[in-house]
Amino acid sequence: MEYAIEMRGITKRFGAVTANDNIDFLVKPQEIHCLLGENGSGKTTLMNILFGIYTMDEGQIKVNGQPVHIRSPRDASRLGIGMVHQHFMLFNQNTVLENIILGDERVPFFLDYEKSRKEVQSLLDRYEFHIDLDEKICNLSVGMKQRVEILKVLYRGAEIIIFDEPTSVLTPQESDILLGMIQNLREQGKTVVFISHKLGETMTIGDSMTVLRKGAAVANVLREETSVHDLARHMVGKEVETSLEREEVEPGECVFELADVPIWEHRKSCNLRVHEYEILGIAGVDGNGQMELEESIIGLRDHRQGHQYLLGEEITHEPTLLRKLKGMAHIPSDRHKYGILPNETLCRNYLLGNQEREEFKSHGLIRTQRLDRFSEEMIEKYNVYTSGIEQTSGSLSGGNQQKLVLSRELSQSPKFILAAQPTVGLDIGAIEFVHRTLLQKREEGCAILLISADLSEVMALSDRIAVMYEGEIVAVGDSSEFTRDELGLMMAGHLGGAS
Ligand SMILES: Nc1ncnc2c1ncn2[C@@H]1O[C@H](COP(=O)(O)OP(=O)(O)OP(=O)(O)O)[C@@H](O)[C@H]1O
Ligand SMILES: [Mg+2]
Repeated sequence: MEYAIEMRGITKRFGAVTANDNIDFLVKPQEIHCLLGENGSGKTTLMNILFGIYTMDEGQIKVNGQPVHIRSPRDASRLGIGMVHQHFMLFNQNTVLENIILGDERVPFFLDYEKSRKEVQSLLDRYEFHIDLDEKICNLSVGMKQRVEILKVLYRGAEIIIFDEPTSVLTPQESDILLGMIQNLREQGKTVVFISHKLGETMTIGDSMTVLRKGAAVANVLREETSVHDLARHMVGKEVETSLEREEVEPGECVFELADVPIWEHRKSCNLRVHEYEILGIAGVDGNGQMELEESIIGLRDHRQGHQYLLGEEITHEPTLLRKLKGMAHIPSDRHKYGILPNETLCRNYLLGNQEREEFKSHGLIRTQRLDRFSEEMIEKYNVYTSGIEQTSGSLSGGNQQKLVLSRELSQSPKFILAAQPTVGLDIGAIEFVHRTLLQKREEGCAILLISADLSEVMALSDRIAVMYEGEIVAVGDSSEFTRDELGLMMAGHLGGAS
């Protein structure tokens, strides 16, 4: 049979790490093929090879039955392959239309703007995308930015489209829309490779699945022959257990307080108190002030009104570094903006935010041996999959970058942990690890504020839940007081649950 994509015996090494180990990857025309595997199992690497970003050490590739040599994304484009990356590659100050048509390698010398606009418009109509072509990228939501990336790929005439974890950055509503769009792409004759950690959604849209484990392909199955349970077992290599044990503990003193702070202007001010031995979860549809709340708590927004207290001390105008020294840990929702220095080594990333601690500093100099040892300990304890402490953090797999941030932030015995979207992009095993770690910190007496767009996560971890809607906190209560449906209604702006 002729495959749309036929990759055989693909091997790719980075130093001592074999990211892809003799992988066979076969995709039939006009199917949605899901690529699954734990963090660091080699999914992005394999697709980067197909898209010409990396060159393989060994292996052959055929596209639509023809042997090909893909040396660059330009080669891939010419073969009708497009990729929507894990991180968007858009110019923020340009419009949607400009982002779609600029950089198109098929344009010889000059651009016929009006003709291009018409072409893009007809794509919008054909695929039922609703988006304003003249809006600047910086004014768009994440879901909309992703649509621009998809349009870019379609505009270049892609017949085979790779999506690398497209739903990990989306709200549940946006995800549903995207899954619909992807099914529509298949209906229109496209072939899709879909990478995701969410087994439920892969079972919803996938026609077949390939599972990678530690760089090797361990299963290739049709949807009819498999189940969520089976896929999880293939990924991890053993039975996965997903029950969380919560010890009953009494909350103690108030550790962090937000008093009368207007998170959105012209809205009611927010009040929150987080206590020792307690997880307070913020439930809400993404974009209802969670980002602003997070930035406010770590000291990146100077409000004219309101106060913040950490362990009874006022920190309202204190900078981020000082808050951290006083016992605040921060797991950022946007790890690229606030969490890591991608071009620096893991060691230097472990120093980030710790540079003023005596443990790592002596007479104004960094104690490098200590830092090395500390980094190695963290990598071991948190199971960060890496070739060593000299690897740059940007070249870690997405999930392993998240583990790096977690291990650094939780290592300094924090009193208060602000955990924003702490499990985005993590595989099931790693999610369970993070959940257990947060519960353990709670049992040790930490106060934890959990911001998460994943309602199940909020419900599973929180002692109390606060619901955010349009920049305000519209309800707070013990988690046992709320049902899932009530929370869902309040998140959508229908009040009436407990308050
Ligand atoms: N440019 C690079 N330099 C060094 N190592 C790399 C590079 N790119 C990937 N790796 C390594 O290859 C391995 C596989 O990474 P890859 O990004 O393919 O994983 P993944 O399956 O996409 O994981 P995730 O689900 O976390 O995104 C990892 O150990 C990673 O550190
Ligand atoms: Mg990846």
